[in-house]
Amino acid sequence: MKLTVVGGGSTYTPELIDGFARLRDTLPVEELVLVDPAADRLELVGGLARRIFAHQGHPGRIVTTPDLDAAVDGADAVLLQLRVGGQAARQQDETWPLECGCVGQETTGAGGLAKALRTVPVILDIADRVRRTNPNAWIIDFTNPVGIVTRALLQAGHRAVGLCNVAIGFQRKFAAMLDVAPTDIHLDHVGLNHLTWETGVRLGGPEGRNVLPDLLAAHGDRIADDLHLPRPLLDRLGVVPSYYLRYYYAHDKVVEELRTKPSRAAEVAAMEEQLLRMYGDPSLHEKPALLAKRGGAYYSEAAVDLAAALLGGGGSPYQVVNTHNNGTLPFLPDDAVIEVQAAVGPKGATPLTVAPLDPLYAGLVADVTAYEDLALEAALRGGRDRVFRALLSHPLIGQYEYAETLTDQLIAHNREHLAWA
Ligand code: G6P
Ligand code: MN
Repeated sequence: MKLTVVGGGSTYTPELIDGFARLRDTLPVEELVLVDPAADRLELVGGLARRIFAHQGHPGRIVTTPDLDAAVDGADAVLLQLRVGGQAARQQDETWPLECGCVGQETTGAGGLAKALRTVPVILDIADRVRRTNPNAWIIDFTNPVGIVTRALLQAGHRAVGLCNVAIGFQRKFAAMLDVAPTDIHLDHVGLNHLTWETGVRLGGPEGRNVLPDLLAAHGDRIADDLHLPRPLLDRLGVVPSYYLRYYYAHDKVVEELRTKPSRAAEVAAMEEQLLRMYGDPSLHEKPALLAKRGGAYYSEAAVDLAAALLGGGGSPYQVVNTHNNGTLPFLPDDAVIEVQAAVGPKGATPLTVAPLDPLYAGLVADVTAYEDLALEAALRGGRDRVFRALLSHPLIGQYEYAETLTDQLIAHNREHLAWA
């Protein structure tokens, strides 16, 4: 089995390698190709990756290369984990929206649109090259914004599934609280990428008993604390929103906080510098603890599980993924991309049935789906007016004066990444 990681020079890669090493029975990788244009990073990350494999007695071969076509040739699955413009572009996404009093975040609101506009054309180009060399390969997309990027890939007819670690994070956390194995927890997880709610927590599988009310009663304080949301709100909702919902439910408060503290991009850039220094140490042969301070906890386990299921080698039968709606949420178009539990196997992902969604959540999901549609239009076709339409449609923006200013800011800050600007 050959796997290719595009963006393999990411400081996150040792997390992935650690997962491949630990879970080699689920996913027997023979060749792992890390492809990245940044030669220095790739060398440091690749060196550590080889030492992790060697230390854990993994027989697989790790290849590093800047050559995408060679890297994807013969690959069974291609993982996309790249960041166009790096942390510098993220820093911008997190900053200029704040000037209008709008949230500055890399996947939510105006910053998320900027990221989509930079990213979609690059991903589609890579996916076309994958298909030309290797039409049967599965594409697993972690690249944000995952909902919009996955929609772009599926619309262009690629064999793609989008993946995020929010659900696996809740699964692990709830399992620890309930003192059961993570595989015993089945989440009723519904919404769009970075706009989801856990509406049920079931023991044993999709038909299992829903223990969410007991979980909230016993551990509600801790769950609320971790989300930085008030416990009474959780009790009133009776569901667990993802931490990205805080950008909606506490928007103005978050804006105030973001205005007074260093950006996440700056924090991450500092961590990355430190991580790369560590990776260069030839005596290091495991992922450093510092990596746990990044948001991507468990993403390697989610990736191994998904790749194993898609390649027919096992993996969990049901997994939370991003895929076409196809009637699952009846109030959305079939070609919208939703994030839900799906049956996953060599034929791809098929969403499980979802119980009718409370209008409290359905309204927001419908709004953001419309925004994602307009965002994709803007990413594919460009133009100031398409950017404006996407921003005006976003429930966190909505007012024309903000949308005008944010349109100008987005274009000014991203000109070098936008072919049409
Ligand atoms: C979570 C999200 C990812 C996001 C990451 C950011 O894992 O699901 O989509 O990329 O957080 O983490 P960072 O450490 O870069 O802030
Ligand atoms: Mn995510």
